[in-house]
Amino acid sequence: MKEYYENKVAVVTGGASGIGLALAETLLSCEAKQVVLADLNDENLKQETERLDRVYPGKVLGLHCNITKEGDVQGMIRKAVEFGGRIDILINNAGAGLGGLFDKQTNEDWEKAFALNFYGALYGIRAVLPIMRKQGSGHIVDIISGIAFSPMAQQTMYSATKAALNGLTLALRYELWDENIRVTSATPGTTATPIWKTGGCEPPPSAQSPEQSAQTILAGVAKNERLVLGDQDDVSGAKNCFNPDYAAGMDDYFLNVARKRRSGEWVV
Ligand SMILES: NC(=O)c1ccc[n+]([C@@H]2O[C@H](COP(=O)([O-])OP(=O)(O)OC[C@H]3O[C@@H](n4cnc5c(N)ncnc54)[C@H](O)[C@@H]3O)[C@@H](O)[C@H]2O)c1
Repeated sequence: MKEYYENKVAVVTGGASGIGLALAETLLSCEAKQVVLADLNDENLKQETERLDRVYPGKVLGLHCNITKEGDVQGMIRKAVEFGGRIDILINNAGAGLGGLFDKQTNEDWEKAFALNFYGALYGIRAVLPIMRKQGSGHIVDIISGIAFSPMAQQTMYSATKAALNGLTLALRYELWDENIRVTSATPGTTATPIWKTGGCEPPPSAQSPEQSAQTILAGVAKNERLVLGDQDDVSGAKNCFNPDYAAGMDDYFLNVARKRRSGEWVV
């Protein structure tokens, strides 16, 4: 896969932590020309940019960006082009887990959820498209989640926002195909990152490392896969969840998850 990333300029949102950071490091190890980390968390951004710059001098730029604000995203993409001269790859990775009971969530909570997990990526796509069109090439990668194929109780906002992003991504792929702009949707698989703690729980012991997740995603992206699935659970979810032959079994499974979660046991 190294050949695909060699000499490329990439932007990774949510690049200061977890999967985004691992994606950025893997791109650099594949001899990407330059990588921009865009993130809201200035402390992590400074720390990780400085660390990566020591290993890959001159190749890394950290940019503060709140992806829920279109002006921020436009400004970030402008600065990224100034830095790298072009943008070959945009990875819309920033996002959050957004758990909780539907009854306790307001419309404002839902608007914030879509602002982060859906509109953030949409703004990224809008900002980068004119640049990729001018170049005559590019690759946009949207990080969704296995939840798009396995919607679960107490994760209504996460399920809905990631399914919406997946729909946008897969449909757009064929609008842009003939312009030589590739579009890929990717699930990271269950991965041990700070997202779990932010959501008030620990990652399951079976969770893979962010580096494993980044390897799988970038290998699939290099092959221009339509949908990269980050682990075997995501493969099963994508195969089975909407298969009409398995509808009754799916009901049993997801109802069991819902009841256990209601009783306080966080199962998946
Ligand atoms: N970790 C998993 O098991 C898992 C599974 C499926 C999908 N995902 C998805 O992978 C992506 C990365 O998650 P992660 O696990 O690395 O989480 P993480 O919490 O480690 O990283 C998320 C990063 O996004 C940044 N961010 C949050 N809001 C932002 C905003 N408004 N603007 C800019 N940056 C912002 C955070 O500061 C953080 O650096 C997310 O989209 C997540 O939904 C993760």
